[in-house]
Amino acid sequence: MTDQLHDAAPAAEAQTDSNVPEEESGEGTARRRASFHPLEVSQVRRLTNDSIEVTFGVPAALADEYDYIPGQYVAIRKELPDPNQGGEVREVRRSYSICAAPRRFDDGSSEIRVAVKKDLGGIFSTWANESLAAGETLDVMSPAGAFISKHKMTGLNDPSSINTDIEHTFVAVAAGSGITPIMAIARTVLAADENVRFDLIYANKAAMDVMFVEELADLKDRYPSRFALHHVLSREQRISPLLSGRVDAEKLTTLLNTVIHADDVDEWFLCGPFELVQLVRDTLSGRGVEPEKVRYELFTTGTPSSLEGNIGRPVVEDPSGKNVEIEFTLDGLTGSVKSPVSANETILNAALRVRPDVPFACAGGVCGTCRAKLVSGTVEMTENYALEPDEVERGYVLTCQSHPTSDAVSVDFDA
Ligand SMILES: Cc1cc2nc3c(=O)[nH]c(=O)nc-3n(C[C@H](O)[C@H](O)[C@H](O)COP(=O)(O)OP(=O)(O)OC[C@H]3O[C@@H](n4cnc5c(N)ncnc54)[C@H](O)[C@@H]3O)c2cc1C
Ligand code: FES
Repeated sequence: MTDQLHDAAPAAEAQTDSNVPEEESGEGTARRRASFHPLEVSQVRRLTNDSIEVTFGVPAALADEYDYIPGQYVAIRKELPDPNQGGEVREVRRSYSICAAPRRFDDGSSEIRVAVKKDLGGIFSTWANESLAAGETLDVMSPAGAFISKHKMTGLNDPSSINTDIEHTFVAVAAGSGITPIMAIARTVLAADENVRFDLIYANKAAMDVMFVEELADLKDRYPSRFALHHVLSREQRISPLLSGRVDAEKLTTLLNTVIHADDVDEWFLCGPFELVQLVRDTLSGRGVEPEKVRYELFTTGTPSSLEGNIGRPVVEDPSGKNVEIEFTLDGLTGSVKSPVSANETILNAALRVRPDVPFACAGGVCGTCRAKLVSGTVEMTENYALEPDEVERGYVLTCQSHPTSDAVSVDFDA
């Protein structure tokens, strides 16, 4: 563990605690357990040379299940050849943030829109950018994720809205494809209330890389006094030197002191590469911004080897050696599996041996799909970029990162 992002959600020797308060009710859509359904792609629209927007049609019968809070993501699974495994076909799961505000059509159907940026050498994003077309059907997980406004301006799914009597200021810092969840959040909060102001710092290498360029311009036209957009281009000279070059500590501080109304911000949304998100969090913390006001989403930890590293690893029970007894409850059914101590495997890896429907998406500790409550025993979490500190305190763990440290552990995916 080398990074300070863990300050907010530390990797932990988690332990059950009978005094842990029960989870508050009302998290609703944010914490609903996700499941996959086949959805048809109704449109593929090119955004830039290396990114596309993909729209999935959601039939009326599934519309409730695919209702979402802006900022959430869906996981997509697909069998694709893996060049790292000699072209062998295997199932890949990738998460993509939803980029549109939630809406329902007259016939009760709805849609999910995501944007996929081609990652050089990336299996799914390359395939999607080069081959995905309307008419194709993909397995899409129902929306999940906690990168959402605490102000509950949630469109379809939560009519209790923000206090409209007072002004609210939201600021987002995004880079590259990190704009995707911010699009959904900005579109929703700006439309929800005329007392909302939204400032966006959006960093890219060059103008040709800017995703949603027209949609962002539309937002500026629609809300000229409430939406402020600051493009920063690292490899192109803009008229203002402040908006040219990499966003480093100095540039960020100047931006916060000049163009952003930084002192009276209700919520901050950060989404981009690990280093940028960490820089902004550190800077805000240095300025005395309370951590509860800062939400962040990471698309990757920047270490590709950690992704999927432990999933599907063949491990067999050791008949003569020492095994850990892992018990888990999922959809009301309790199962158990033995895991050899010597294998030091994760709870998720072990549980998948006996229940292939155990939920996961990134397998890298960033998305939170594999979250479960530790009912008994102890575990060590290797990485945690997804759980809030209060969730860890209440006994939640990421099963894709949790290695048992006691002879027996029990987790509850339904809690
Ligand atoms: C919650 C969440 C939301 C997300 N939202 C979005 C979104 O809205 N839009 C978006 O575009 N992405 C998003 N992502 C990222 C997305 O899920 C994928 O990680 C991304 O598209 C890359 O997937 P891939 O299959 O193309 O790349 P992968 O095949 O997973 O490879 C990723 C990178 O690692 C490199 N790599 C792979 N194997 C190795 C190796 N052995 N050694 C060295 N390097 C290697 C590849 O070259 C590539 O650059 C999100 C991720 C999360 C967790
Ligand atoms: S599957 Fe994403 S955090 Fe575990």
